[in-house]
Amino acid sequence: MHFYLEPGGKLVGSIRVPGDKSMSHRVIMLGAIAEGKTDVSGFLEGEDALSTLGAFRNMGVMISEPESGRLSIEGVGLRGLQAPTGIMDVGNSGTSIRLMAGLLAGQTFSSVLTGDQSLLRRPMARVITPLSQMGAVISSREGCPPLEISGGRKLRGVHYELPVASAQVKSSVLLAGLFAEGFTSVVEPAPTRNHTERMLTGFGYAVEVESGSIGLEGGGTLQGTRVDIPADISSAAFFMVGASIAEGSDLVLEHVGINPTRDGVIRILKAMGADIESSNERDVGGEPVADLRIRSAPLRGIDIPVEEVPLAIDELPAILIAAACAEGVTVLRGAEELRVKESDRIASMAEGLTQLGISNTVHADGITVIGGDIGGGVIATHHDHRIAMSFAMAALRASDRIKVSDCAHVATSFPGFAELAVRVGLRLDVADT
Ligand code: S3P
Repeated sequence: MHFYLEPGGKLVGSIRVPGDKSMSHRVIMLGAIAEGKTDVSGFLEGEDALSTLGAFRNMGVMISEPESGRLSIEGVGLRGLQAPTGIMDVGNSGTSIRLMAGLLAGQTFSSVLTGDQSLLRRPMARVITPLSQMGAVISSREGCPPLEISGGRKLRGVHYELPVASAQVKSSVLLAGLFAEGFTSVVEPAPTRNHTERMLTGFGYAVEVESGSIGLEGGGTLQGTRVDIPADISSAAFFMVGASIAEGSDLVLEHVGINPTRDGVIRILKAMGADIESSNERDVGGEPVADLRIRSAPLRGIDIPVEEVPLAIDELPAILIAAACAEGVTVLRGAEELRVKESDRIASMAEGLTQLGISNTVHADGITVIGGDIGGGVIATHHDHRIAMSFAMAALRASDRIKVSDCAHVATSFPGFAELAVRVGLRLDVADT
């Protein structure tokens, strides 16, 4: 499946993008091991979150069929999961495999987690190392999936200093900590998304958070609850960039999660000169939410502050499209983690930008982009959803047609992207050949 884009256009209207992916994974996991029922709204019915949902059904958890983002989970309690039937395939989803490795490490039964070609190349040693320190026994294929997790191991709490700023690793260790004897704590080198901590608290589980350290005592109880998931700021980011770069745009993105560990994209785009207005700020089930109005504005290149990188990690491909349309030079450093996402996002972005005539220099840990005139051409996505959606937005400023090849993976995080984008003005056609 490919995207064909006519150049030009502007984004106008008011839309709500689908639910937050990180929170959708977590609500299934925590709802499953809670006591009693959890009612969810705003759930992301994308392939990644549905992989997590399928895996927990496979472990005996009753989860209703999602309908317009609503579903309910009948929690089985901390010790109530059942041995899965067969290998659990979580497709493209790094969040599923890393968080579930932690959650499964302390079960009485063994399990095997695997995924698609992209997931089979992603590093898992980052979770295997701390989980092994807790007493888990996990085998991998040279540090990559499939992961074979041995059952019946007694876990003990650890104090673990994360070598990389990764919410997935932090969450994996904390989820294992629920099943461990004693106290588990994690120290982050830099703040990362804190949905696990917030949601555990929402399920009534005590979490201690103190200057970069997050800890919990094992063996407690999670209480089923109501969770309303806001729109995913990572999906909203493509439209923030599109509306900023396309002259005449005026777009409202409704009900977007603006958790301060996720909203680096807003600060970075504003520093580049973007016109983003936040209104109706409110708290929805322990997460801050707002409506964002974006009007087009001339952008300028900046040095992206290194401390913003983990707070905008999934939005950096879209931000690099803004950089291509900005006056001057944008420098991204300290972003080596981009090399181990669904694709090597530094290489994928550099290749696509070059294809469109945008000068750039690749660094081991980032990229320098010189703003300029965007041409047309064929973009390879390397089967990466965020590369596909970023380059789709580049068409708004292109002088010629753009074909974005192999876009099927867009459905992992943003089902309905093409329809929604067309509705607000992107000149996009989808075709199989
Ligand atoms: C995620 C954390 C991030 C992010 C991923 C989702 C999460 O990964 O890139 O899309 O839900 O915890 P890392 O924690 O590995 O940086």
